[in-house]
Amino acid sequence: MPLLIRNARLLTLAGGAAPRRGKALGDLGIIPTGEVLVTDGKISAVGPKVEAPAGAEAIDAGGRIVMPGFVDCHTHACWAGDRLEEWTMKLNGVPYLEIMKKGGGIHATVNAVREATQKQLAASLRDRLTLMLREGTTTVEVKSGYGLTTEAELKMLRAIRRAASDWSGTVVPTALLGHAVEGDHDTYTRMVVKEMLAEISREFPDIAVDAFCETGAWSVDACVKLFEKAGKHHPIRVHADQFNSLGMIPEAIRLFARSVDHLEATTKPDLLALAASPTMGVILPCTGFHTDQRYARGGYFVDQGGALALATNCNPGSSPTHSVPFAIALAVRFCGLSPAEAIVATTVNAAAVLGLTDRGTLEPGKRADLIILHHKDERALAYELGGNPVDAVICNGQLVTHT
Ligand code: NIG
Repeated sequence: MPLLIRNARLLTLAGGAAPRRGKALGDLGIIPTGEVLVTDGKISAVGPKVEAPAGAEAIDAGGRIVMPGFVDCHTHACWAGDRLEEWTMKLNGVPYLEIMKKGGGIHATVNAVREATQKQLAASLRDRLTLMLREGTTTVEVKSGYGLTTEAELKMLRAIRRAASDWSGTVVPTALLGHAVEGDHDTYTRMVVKEMLAEISREFPDIAVDAFCETGAWSVDACVKLFEKAGKHHPIRVHADQFNSLGMIPEAIRLFARSVDHLEATTKPDLLALAASPTMGVILPCTGFHTDQRYARGGYFVDQGGALALATNCNPGSSPTHSVPFAIALAVRFCGLSPAEAIVATTVNAAAVLGLTDRGTLEPGKRADLIILHHKDERALAYELGGNPVDAVICNGQLVTHT
């Protein structure tokens, strides 16, 4: 049955699927009082008044905001175990990279993931997906990267696929083949490039390939070798400049990476080069909030004409949150984004990072993933801290959560 949402403040973000850069990130395409018609899982009409067929189910939004569902384009939401012990160490002043060097951090989660079955990994991810949906996330990227062996990486990717299969939203898996290093750096990274990549490609031919370029993780050289090979068949993404600026950004641009994620330690010249390139920047402010109060200069990047996305980085070590509204609240306070820019960065631009052109705006023909907020002023989405601003979620045309 068609669904008509009436009497809504619509954030349409109309303007097509291309990522917004610079000033265009501030344009929400607002219709102050409007209607959306949903037919067969797709948006069929949007405007101040639309023609609905007799018998369409109607929701009166009562002036509340209706906007595209959130796209969380960077998470490590598939994991086992917890990192509460190391959090206590962190509270006592031990830095993230130091914990990792001592065999904790990512390695602690690797051990827990190796011990878990595929079914257990899928079940715990499924629980997190339920929480995400309630807070308005209708599309989420989930990375592997806690396996570090071919077998364990495949187990993670299969678990991600399994958890996705009965979720109302869309899960986009990413093969994070370069997350950490076991044993000798060069021997390990060579094994990934020569052996692991081929195995993963066989079962997941279209998947994006990612790496963590950082002191104590993957070197620039190793990332380049991985991406030069992977980039022939897979989109590539990279974690760069989280703690140290190692020179990955010019290489990522040269290799046409889809995105460079983190950017907390990025130099001005590198930010400028990235802003002028087709590669998108992704900022992850929940990480700085949880670890060391360092934030990427998202506002500066946008002012320089960059195409920016914003995500939760949901993971057990550096960002234990699944909430896009919380990421928005932090990006506005600490990264220099306006509320409107943060909304664009978590919808249409985040969809572009994942190569999805069918969502992220309220336009005819788009997938009907939309949310009704509790608020009547979109600035409140960034203003409010904690709590859930989402009253209803419609996924693929179906009302899936309603409070
Ligand atoms: O993006 N930096 C690398 N990966 C994650 C952290 C993963 C973890 O600590 O388990 C990040 O912050």
